[in-house]
Order: sequence, then structure tokens, then C-alpha cells
Amino acid sequence: MRITVKSPREMEIMRRAGQVVAKVLALMGEKVRPGVTTEELDRAAAELIRGEGAEVAFKGYLGYPKHICVSVNEEVVHGIPSDRRLEEGDVVGVDVGAKVEGYYGDAAVTLPVGKVDEDTRRLIRDTRQALLAGIKAVRPNARLKDVSRAIESYARPKGYGIVEEYVGHGIGKAMHEDPQIPNYVPKSYPAGDLVLLPGMALALEPMLNLGTAQVETLDDGWTVVTKDRRRSAHFEHTVAVTADGHEVLTRMDGEEI
Ligand code: MF3
Ligand code: CO
Repeated sequence: MRITVKSPREMEIMRRAGQVVAKVLALMGEKVRPGVTTEELDRAAAELIRGEGAEVAFKGYLGYPKHICVSVNEEVVHGIPSDRRLEEGDVVGVDVGAKVEGYYGDAAVTLPVGKVDEDTRRLIRDTRQALLAGIKAVRPNARLKDVSRAIESYARPKGYGIVEEYVGHGIGKAMHEDPQIPNYVPKSYPAGDLVLLPGMALALEPMLNLGTAQVETLDDGWTVVTKDRRRSAHFEHTVAVTADGHEVLTRMDGEEI
């Protein structure tokens, strides 16, 4: 697929999709606490998305059975909501997608459940900061590779496992558009020397692990876990390239970026 450049009119629609996602993530921040089931989070998210007049992006995507992804502790991404109850000390990633007038927004946060240990607090904070480092590198005429490098340069020295199998992506009329955006700079970079232009939209989404970078998929066909079962965190934003830098389309009210 080609890399799409959106018109200002299309970008306004993407902003609306992004803001629906942002509202859902803010709601998840209120709902996540010990005792809540991941399915309750799923239902609340679906209700809010539809109440905003938007469509749920994930349900039915490649057969995905639920409305959002909820990934607990060693689960990296694509955890399927269930009757599992969150417990004090867990760490939970919530990934949300919405579609408005044919355009997608996609974002994720990782939240502590009650009081978590120091390593988990650090993992959450640093994964968010890795995303923000990537976002800061988004501007016209920057190379996409510089965005990947910004994320890697933040995360690597801190010793985290940087997940390689799952990557950020272009986004627009499809949830996953070209280019692929690795969270590190591989020897053979998928997008070559791609230069960013105003109107491009990128979903940046670093996944960092306390231990190994290696992951595997459980028998449910979706849930991605770390091979060593140590904890993982994931943050994602949908970011537009603008004439003078970038705009975070999924930015939450009051979120400092
Ligand atoms: N949100 C994921 C991404 O960032 C996609 C989830 S697809 C689903 O690319 F089917 F698992 F929902
Ligand atoms: Co995504």
C-alpha cells in the first residue's frame, strides 16, 4: 500500500476519531482499579465509542472478538477482554481504536492497578517517555528512521527489551497503512529513506519489556506475551505531521506532551 497524505478536511475527521479514542482512554483511567473485570472495561469502551457516534475499530478486525485490547502484566498487546479481575499490583495496557466517517484513530495507554512495584512504575513511565521521544521527532522533512531512532535511543540505554515483532504504522482510511514504523532501527529499515510530509498520519506505539524482547502468541491466537513472562508496557498515539511539526490527534484533555 502507498503512504497517504491527507487533506485538511480529512485531517479534521481524523482529529474527531482521535478525540473519541482519547475520551475512551481517559475513561479507562477512571475505571481501572482492583476488582474490575477486563470485560467491564470492554463494555464501557464500546458504549462510549458508539455514544460518540463513532464505530468500534477492532471488533471483527481479522476476526478479533472484542471491542478493545486489554493486556495484563506479561501480556504485551492484543489481550482479549474476559471475566478476569484486575488485582492490586497488576499493570494493564488498554488499546482502543475508533472510526469516524471512514477514518481511524488508534491509541493505547498502560496503567497501574492500585499500588505497583518500583520496576513497574519505571517501566510505565519510560515507555510513555519513549513514545513522547518519538513524537518529538515527527516534523516535515524529518526521516521516518529518525522517529524510530528517537524511540530506540530513549529505551535501549535503560536496558528494556524492545519488542520487534509489532510496530507502529501509518493510519487513515485503513487502521494499518504504510509505512511500518519499528521502535528501533533495523539494519534493513522497512520504509527506506522515507521523508515525512505534512498530511501524513502515523500511529507510534513502543512496546517495552522488563526482560527479554522476545514474544510469543498464546493458543487463543491473539494474546501476545513475553517469552520470559516478565512485564511489558505499551503506549500509542495517532500523530499528524503538520506544516510546523506535529499534532497528537489522540491527545487526552490535560495530557502534557
Ligand atoms: N491497536 C492495534 C494496533 O495498534 C491493533 C489491534 S487489532 C485487534 O495496531 F484486532 F487486535 F484489535
Ligand atoms: Co496501532
